[in-house]
Amino acid sequence: MLVLGIETSCDETSAAVVQDRQILSNVVSSQMDLHSVYGGVVPEVASRQHLRMVDAVIAQACKQTDIFVSGIDVIAVTRGPGLPSALLVGVSAARGLALRWRKLLIPIHHMEAHLYSPAMEAAPFVALVVSGGHTLLVHVLCFGEHQLLGQTLDDAAGEAFDKAAQLMGLGYPGGPAIEQKAKNGNPKAFRFPRPMLDSGNWNFSFSGLKTAFRKTVVAQKSSIQSPQCIADLCASFQAAVVEVLVEKTIRAAQHFQVSQVALSGGVACNHALRSVLGKGCQAKGIRLAIAERNLCTDNAAMIALLAERKLLYHYQPPAEWDIQPDWSLEPHS
Ligand code: KG4
Ligand code: ZN
Repeated sequence: MLVLGIETSCDETSAAVVQDRQILSNVVSSQMDLHSVYGGVVPEVASRQHLRMVDAVIAQACKQTDIFVSGIDVIAVTRGPGLPSALLVGVSAARGLALRWRKLLIPIHHMEAHLYSPAMEAAPFVALVVSGGHTLLVHVLCFGEHQLLGQTLDDAAGEAFDKAAQLMGLGYPGGPAIEQKAKNGNPKAFRFPRPMLDSGNWNFSFSGLKTAFRKTVVAQKSSIQSPQCIADLCASFQAAVVEVLVEKTIRAAQHFQVSQVALSGGVACNHALRSVLGKGCQAKGIRLAIAERNLCTDNAAMIALLAERKLLYHYQPPAEWDIQPDWSLEPHS
């Protein structure tokens, strides 16, 4: 079974072909440069660029696998959550192809695709899904059955990185820029708050940390020009985000008595997060599965892979459906 995946929920236009859990192609056309001048994703710019790119990206994904779209068996597309006008482009393209070639069309939840992107063979596991729009802690009981334990009450972890980077003029996306600067910094130079670390629930909050960071940046105005000060600010900020994410994830795994943890989403590219979570899991005898880097940030392979797996479990798509920009992970449980 050949599955074509299409993803246009935010600022990457992507198409991929998978077969038997193998990724045959995974083409990603990033809009990062277009949005970086604005310091964040501009929805109108995103949807216009998706429109420009989507057909070519699909054609390239098929070409790389030496097949025609007509040879595809199933088309999977991101239904939500995401930017409405951006989702519409992918869903319209997928619908058009499915109608033209009479193919089965599978709507996919973008965060569920991130959730299953690490190569975790069997549940149960606790998953930390950290992206630009979401920070989710999920208890996966078995494939397709999960409980959302907690999420961010305000900014997502990736959003916090993006806003902190913007404050220092480091550009968009902020995560990779902060990580780069943090390499030469002292993570203990500034003591930033660890929000909701002991909140007694599984939720997160990063807006207070962002405010504390902004105040420190303003206070350091005279020395902010110094590369060492920027490096220290970045390292200290990154350490605060990582500590909260790692601590709460490991505590959740222990609380729910699961011996496996999965990490995915764009922020999972962060080496400090990967390494601190790795050490924390190892110390507690927990197995850790991290999504491969090309599956961390938005991509269509994870959309096609999830559709393929759902079909193995005899999933039937709803007869009628539309884009769902604010689709929560909860109704799946
Ligand atoms: O999953 P993703 O590609 O898109 C969404 O679904 O949001 O995640 C993008 C987010 C951005 O906020 C970006 O700053 C963050 O992931 N990110 C990182 C790193 N690479 C990407 N955050 C921290 N460290 C990184 N190395
Ligand atoms: Zn994403």
